[in-house]
Amino acid sequence: MGDARPVSDTDACRAALAERFPGPAWLDGDDIPARNTHDTSYLPATRPLGVARPNDPAGFADAMTICARHDVPVVPQAGLTGLAGGAHPLEGAVAISFERFSGIEEIDPASATMTVRAGTPLETIQRAADEAGFFIPLDLGARGSCLIGGNLGTNAGGNRVIRYGMAREMVLGLEYVLPDGTLITGLNKMIKNNAGYDLKQLFMGSEGTLGMITRAVLRLYPKPGCTCAALCGLRGYEDVLGLLAAARRGLGPMLSAFEVMWPDYWHEATVTVPNIRRPIEGDHAFYVLVEMQGMDEALDAPRFESWLEGQFESGLIEDAAIARSLADVAAFWRTRDAAGEFGTVLGPHSAFDIGLPVRAMDDFATECRAALAATLPGCLSVYYGHIGDGNLHIVALVPGAAEQPGKAISEIVYTTVGRHGGTISAEHGIGLVKKPYLPLSRSEGELALMRRLKRALDPRGVLNPGKVINMENM
Ligand code: LAC
Ligand code: ZN
Repeated sequence: MGDARPVSDTDACRAALAERFPGPAWLDGDDIPARNTHDTSYLPATRPLGVARPNDPAGFADAMTICARHDVPVVPQAGLTGLAGGAHPLEGAVAISFERFSGIEEIDPASATMTVRAGTPLETIQRAADEAGFFIPLDLGARGSCLIGGNLGTNAGGNRVIRYGMAREMVLGLEYVLPDGTLITGLNKMIKNNAGYDLKQLFMGSEGTLGMITRAVLRLYPKPGCTCAALCGLRGYEDVLGLLAAARRGLGPMLSAFEVMWPDYWHEATVTVPNIRRPIEGDHAFYVLVEMQGMDEALDAPRFESWLEGQFESGLIEDAAIARSLADVAAFWRTRDAAGEFGTVLGPHSAFDIGLPVRAMDDFATECRAALAATLPGCLSVYYGHIGDGNLHIVALVPGAAEQPGKAISEIVYTTVGRHGGTISAEHGIGLVKKPYLPLSRSEGELALMRRLKRALDPRGVLNPGKVINMENM
């Protein structure tokens, strides 16, 4: 890491943790589970010093206090589904796991809020909201295994950002533990609260480097009365931009997703990935999944259908399938969720979540594909993503290579991103994987301020050191 940290008193720290956290709350030596040795970033497995698993906020504060007192670094771990390495364990660090601090503490229908523990799976939260007659808009492929603490710590994006924003926009109150072990409880339920600094924002998106989130007050949204979707084939990128503008104008705030898939992606997702039904046939320059969440099926479903017909008539759409049931909606989404299978069917690869101005997306894809193929013969790269949010995903690999040229691929992708004025991470975060490239997306002044914040909150560098930003050369 290169960070100059005080020397840790490892044995004393272990003994203090073992005493404070008896039984399943502290796992050491051979008891450290394999799942705590890595996240989903393909970094080599690393054994933490031990795994503390508190089951209340005071326990998280105590675990942090003990580690800080002995200058032993801590890595917070939630669902371990992150792709950037933010929760990847560090040699000589204690992992603090949220998996035993799970559950919904309160649903308040009048405030339309839900208070949750950081170790609660996203899907459990979605289901509880649904049962209470509400809706939680945060949604992503890992919904069954990711935990809300990790979603908030990384400010997760996902499938419905175009309508509801990123994870941070769904949070009204937050409780967290600072790197010195101080527990701050701010479980605010009010939409409006301008009493001084909005401190909670510091802890969302900072990937567990400034504090550990323990509980949150989430906003509940009205449950949609109906969901309509269409899978469209388009002739060119100008038409994609035209359709996006038409969807914003014609569907207004009901537009809930606008996902675009380039033909190279479509091929891998519907041919290479097994058992994915193609909602439309034929070859198209672009495939677009448009989703609308309406209030009333009787009024809004015909509105969606007539909007779609209008796009046919104006020539923006070449071909389209409209969902006739929620099963159809789910089948359309499977063409997009198929990306989650790429690890299995394509093998090791590099995955990106870059952000770009929407207009630049297709020129970027053409340039990036050509640059990758020119430098790395045989390189396959596929393009898809949340285009309405300015967020493009890329999966790239050299099929059959004994070892994937991950570094060369990243350098080509990120320099092309830089040329187009984009960001190296739109939604997954920086963690360890993207840290070397952070200066391509942030100015010297911004990087210096990030370091100043980190130093102010964590002067001894005990919380998730070496993640997101390097502290040397300060
Ligand atoms: C997706 C995840 C990987 O959109 O962000 O598929
Ligand atoms: Zn995504």
